[in-house]
Amino acid sequence: MKYFSIFIISCFLTNLSCAYKILGVFPVGAKSHYIIGQSLMKGLAEKGHEVTVISPYKESSPIANYRTVQVVDVFESIEAVNAKLLEMKDYGVVDGLTGFYDFGANLTRSTLSDKRVQDFMKTKQHFDLVICEVFLTDAMLGFGQLFNAPVVAVSSFSASIFTNDLVGNPSPLSYVPHPFSGFSTEMSLGQRIANILLTSVERGFYYNYFYPKQDTLFKEHFRESRSSLDEIRKNVSLILLNTHFSLAFPRPYVPNMIEIGGIQVNKKPKDLPKNIKDFIESADHGVIYFSLGSNMKSKSLPDETRAALIETFKNLKQKVLWKWEDPNLPGKPDNVLISDWFPQDDILAHPNVKLFITHGGLLSTTESIYHGKPLIGSTIDSFGNRHFLGGICNQAQRRRTPKEFRSRVEFYKVS
Ligand SMILES: *[C@@H]1O[C@H](CO)[C@@H](O)[C@H](O)[C@H]1NC(C)=O
Ligand SMILES: *[C@@H]1O[C@H](CO)[C@@H](O)[C@H](O)[C@H]1NC(C)=O
Repeated sequence: MKYFSIFIISCFLTNLSCAYKILGVFPVGAKSHYIIGQSLMKGLAEKGHEVTVISPYKESSPIANYRTVQVVDVFESIEAVNAKLLEMKDYGVVDGLTGFYDFGANLTRSTLSDKRVQDFMKTKQHFDLVICEVFLTDAMLGFGQLFNAPVVAVSSFSASIFTNDLVGNPSPLSYVPHPFSGFSTEMSLGQRIANILLTSVERGFYYNYFYPKQDTLFKEHFRESRSSLDEIRKNVSLILLNTHFSLAFPRPYVPNMIEIGGIQVNKKPKDLPKNIKDFIESADHGVIYFSLGSNMKSKSLPDETRAALIETFKNLKQKVLWKWEDPNLPGKPDNVLISDWFPQDDILAHPNVKLFITHGGLLSTTESIYHGKPLIGSTIDSFGNRHFLGGICNQAQRRRTPKEFRSRVEFYKVS
């Protein structure tokens, strides 16, 4: 197995002309998860491999060698989840965890029972490799055996219970803080005890609450499988993690767990759309880029926060790009350009962009660091912390940041 992975990787490196049929399974209906999967699969398609991707998103323009099996139901379930998670903000650990795991079961169920996915599963075609995101969707690792292919698992964040257990990666609790604990690598005795408790509670729920549901879904949808879900999970060949040692605390990895943080960054920035390019290049004092990421909508900011932002931006010499999801922003100052979408990575690459005001998501932080742009992190209380996933990424990211980096990042509380 190891040799097969090495063979595939050496194919990329040496550009040998060996094309494979590769299936990507990226079922999570959240842009930040999709961007990681898409960067990987697009890269493979560009190298000439024939790529098929199961995803709730479809590429806006066709890409050579790249085909999507689009799942339609997932967004509904995510919306239902978001609505539910909003009211769950005051729940304790137990309700939080079970809600999180129910979301995973719902996501797995709606993806595997989607008509297009089922038709695709019936094609019984051959794939050389299956690349599967693991985010509360373990049952989907069954695609490997269905198509007789080795499995590469991808995590859209750092090492966690989702990935460590697949390859027996050690996580010494004495110095590896739980990703959601908010602790650093230097824990006091009390924090270590809390770290052990949190990890134990999570393990208990994971294997007694989450896992049986995944096993049932696996048995229901991969009826012809020769192996149990447990055997399949332990048979994953390689794990790719969206993290990077320059961003995270030190921790051990087994050799087939590899960090790919920054994979979505365009190493050669693409040309910006004309209106954005002109706006940036005509700014004598530089440009500030302001975005709260793909999940949070800045148009649902509280009115007084919005007014404060407008007032502040109005008095700046700099121009401001603001990711704002409506066609209109009442009272928009002349030095502000709004759009519901910006090519963020290419904007951050532009030398005239001087500052990034961000929600502190993993992708945003990585891109900003890659391009050497200073960050102001905003935790928008009555808003950001209510958003379950965004809130977690935000907090985990903020706290995972190493000291020397943290000293250069300032976090302001807006509101
Ligand atoms: C999961 O789906 C069930 C049944 O459709 C629904 O009652 C429940 O609220 C959903 N849970 C979450 C967290 O979305
Ligand atoms: C493990 O993966 C290999 C390679 O894909 C496969 O040949 C083997 O049958 C798998 N074993 C189990 C138990 O699934």
